[in-house]
Amino acid sequence: MRILVVGSGAREHAIVKALIRTGTPAADLVCAPGNDWIAKEVEVREVDINDRLAVTKVALEERVGLVVIGPEAPLVNGVSDALREQGIAVFGPDQKAAQLEGSKAFAKEVMAAADVPTGMARQCTTIEEVESALDQFGAPYVVKADGLAAGKGVIVTKDKDAAIAHAKNYIAGGVLIEEFLAGQEVSLFFLSDGETVVPLSPAQDYKRAFDNDEGPNTGGMGAYSPVPWLPEGFVEDVTEKVALPTIRELARRNAKFVGLLYCGLIVTERGTRVIEFNARFGDPETQVVLRRLTSNLADLLYRAATGKLSVGLSPEFSKKKAVTVVLASEGYPTSTAEVREVTGIESAESIDDVEVCKASPVGRVLSVIGCGESFQEARTLAYEGISRIQLQGGHFRNDIALKVS
Ligand code: AMP
Ligand code: GLY
Repeated sequence: MRILVVGSGAREHAIVKALIRTGTPAADLVCAPGNDWIAKEVEVREVDINDRLAVTKVALEERVGLVVIGPEAPLVNGVSDALREQGIAVFGPDQKAAQLEGSKAFAKEVMAAADVPTGMARQCTTIEEVESALDQFGAPYVVKADGLAAGKGVIVTKDKDAAIAHAKNYIAGGVLIEEFLAGQEVSLFFLSDGETVVPLSPAQDYKRAFDNDEGPNTGGMGAYSPVPWLPEGFVEDVTEKVALPTIRELARRNAKFVGLLYCGLIVTERGTRVIEFNARFGDPETQVVLRRLTSNLADLLYRAATGKLSVGLSPEFSKKKAVTVVLASEGYPTSTAEVREVTGIESAESIDDVEVCKASPVGRVLSVIGCGESFQEARTLAYEGISRIQLQGGHFRNDIALKVS
């Protein structure tokens, strides 16, 4: 079966690599639009990923049996709906179900209806409402844009003026003021066929730009998997209390969720709470989660896409640990650098158990993944890899997986 992977980031590169590693011949894969580096492994096709007709045309021309959609924008723009109308199996929710990521207010509504544990929040449409909600919840303040904001929509700050300024930027589309939740964050992915969910292995993402969780929020600067400090029964708990009730509530609303349900969770003293849902694989968590997958990924995604996940199906993961470190271009995430040459990737990849997944020339440029028997080994490999790569002005965090053992 031919498979089309839609997207051009390190996440899509990781998906392509995992498909190949777990048994799909590279010749059966197409990536659209992919990037120069993905093109070294599989066929790529130029396409505007938000153009429903263009993506459908590529899928039909390539005679694929499955389309896997990486980023959120095409999901929210209804690309899955268009593909399904042509009878093509798609791993990625339709426009309605993708609102779980596309609108934080919608996600809160679904969670309230399904009794899913999350922070208290108030939806605001005016700055007066924002000010009153900020006073109600108190500092630290959590302000979230309702719609998609490319990872920039959330601010957590003790500075009320900064909270209000952030709210002003997004108030036209609505904002949410949320209770501050203290604890460790963890990302847990579920494959969903709309009725059943199957959990993958947990990962922890590092959201802030700089060491010691300083600096602004980013799309993610590094990650590790598995997550050894989680409480006993964590995955089962999240399956029962979060993932299943959420997809059932969506199904009740005629918005069957077929694809990847990304649960962004925080483990607080009063239990685990949902911080956010995404409707797609996380980046860079995918790089570490799929690096450890040993079951056939194409089979799992196809089952999800065609309503054939069964209860108890449990994908297998290597016992090895995986750590990924993201190399970002100068100024990321606050400003955009000029495009500069990246060198040394081949040298990094020549190290055993080091892999490089590449994204765009600016922003988050690439992730280096190390895989080893211990976190320390995986971490050492990832950092040895990244030390061989040169990008003028590039920066990365030095503390990924430092405190985990
Ligand atoms: P989100 O886009 O909703 O995942 O938010 C981005 C990041 O902001 C999260 O990964 C957290 O680090 C932080 N965050 C979001 N909501 C809260 C909250 N209620 N309490 C504390 N931190 C939060
Ligand atoms: N790493 C966070 C995300 O993919 O949204």
